[in-house]
Amino acid sequence: MPSINNLGAEFPNLSVETQLGPLRVWDYQGDAWLVFFSHPNDYTPVCTTELGEAARHESNFMQRGVKLMALSCDSVDDHIGWIADIAAASGSTVNFPIISDANREIAVLLGMLDDDEKDSAGIPATVRKLFIVGPDRKIKLVITYPTAVGRSFPEILRVIDALQLAAKFPIATPVNWERGGDVMIQPTVSDADAKVRHRSRDS
Ligand code: BEZ
Repeated sequence: MPSINNLGAEFPNLSVETQLGPLRVWDYQGDAWLVFFSHPNDYTPVCTTELGEAARHESNFMQRGVKLMALSCDSVDDHIGWIADIAAASGSTVNFPIISDANREIAVLLGMLDDDEKDSAGIPATVRKLFIVGPDRKIKLVITYPTAVGRSFPEILRVIDALQLAAKFPIATPVNWERGGDVMIQPTVSDADAKVRHRSRDS
């Protein structure tokens, strides 16, 4: 079986408990793209800033046809209280589901642990892992940040723009590319085909 960390592997159709009730990941995703991202615990400062930022950008994700699904290793009741805290701290309300993974079953399945960093009980910490899953349920991107480093949501939006463009056209995006910037043609495209595509773009 391919590792769940391999790009191109199928993201599992997990049954999960969230503050919005029980969900199956694929049902929630529907035809959209999915950003599935984990957090060590509720009420922790870095996680609180990340979820506030994700909520602030929710409309930017929606415009791109992307749904958000977070995971944190605490109970649904903790999540509900935490969402109120996040709103107070950031001014943004989390409307997307946060999975309760209190026993860390999903964190283990999805390789979200840090072997080096242990919590007070000596258990490996659950890290900041993020999967971008295409509408075909295949994993398009995986990033893993340690607990001490918050992620950049503008960067995640930038990567989604690049992934969605590359899903439509045989292109690649160069260093520091931003939406609307010049792209490169994949080496598999012949010069003749590239010229035809360029002409049809301009006409
Ligand atoms: C935090 O979210 O602030 C955090 C969580 C776990 C370890 C370190 C920081």
